[in-house]
Amino acid sequence: MRATAIAHPNVALAKYWGKRAIPGNVPATPSISVSLGGLQTRTTVELDPSLTKDVLTLNGALADSTRASALLDEVRALAGITAFARIESHNDFPTASGLASSASGFAALARAAVTAMGVSVDDRELSRIARRASASAARSVFGGFVALGTEDNAAAEPVESAAHVTVVVAAVTLGPKLQSSTSGMEHCRATSPYYDAWVADAPRVAAEIRAALAAGDLERVGVAAEASALRMHACMMASAPALLYFQPATLDLLARVRALRAEGVAAWATIDAGPHVKVLCAPRDATRVAEKLAPSAVRTIIAHVGGPARVVE
Ligand code: DP6
Repeated sequence: MRATAIAHPNVALAKYWGKRAIPGNVPATPSISVSLGGLQTRTTVELDPSLTKDVLTLNGALADSTRASALLDEVRALAGITAFARIESHNDFPTASGLASSASGFAALARAAVTAMGVSVDDRELSRIARRASASAARSVFGGFVALGTEDNAAAEPVESAAHVTVVVAAVTLGPKLQSSTSGMEHCRATSPYYDAWVADAPRVAAEIRAALAAGDLERVGVAAEASALRMHACMMASAPALLYFQPATLDLLARVRALRAEGVAAWATIDAGPHVKVLCAPRDATRVAEKLAPSAVRTIIAHVGGPARVVE
């Protein structure tokens, strides 16, 4: 009746931004991500028949459990259990800041919940449960490089990669972000004149990244990943009112990545729904990249490719 799981956040090389269906949380664009091994969420689920509702503690503080409870309801239905749960979750990186805490958070929660309630599901089914809570979490069920499609019943799946990639995370602020991905993407769909073009173009970019990973071509991966991120942000900035996640340091960091390339270092940037910049590079260049980014960041983290969501206790 109690289990603890850990999961890593992931960063999408091909971005998910927009929902094809809101019930069921189905993405409008296919995405491909890499697991960030240097960062982690640790979540414990403990069923307690004396509780009258689920209680969520996030980094030691009581938090709204609506989304977590919806996930637990699915698992309770599968298990035939009605008891509520105490959920304790800790991130070793800034929460809700655009460093993808919902991905690792819901993947760890899904893994811990099925274990605590004795439900046996395969990884694809676990990924669907995580997707309905937060689509990027579907990808954090798996380690390494992972793809998520746009079909009604989409589950993430591992993708072959012959490319060796390290991600240097350059955090710009440690505070919470301005707008959640969920509401930001709906605002974008409703008001951005570029939204349809973004959705139409995304499958080509995802196919290019998949082919480049299979071919082990880091440059092709990087060029396409940077394009995916900047096109997503162009779509956001064209919303009314504009959805602008960039801060001055974000542009500084983009300039530093260009300077690295001019110096002959293979490095490409990606940016999620927040101001932070994540830089893809070869593992041997990670220290040099981190040193170059450091003056414009409050913190840099070198993340080597991480493993799947797993039970630890
Ligand atoms: C920009 O997975 O947080 O990080 O499904 O509404 O919970 P919900 O959205 P979420 O969105 C992630 C958006 C992104 C790109 C990505 O991770 O693919």
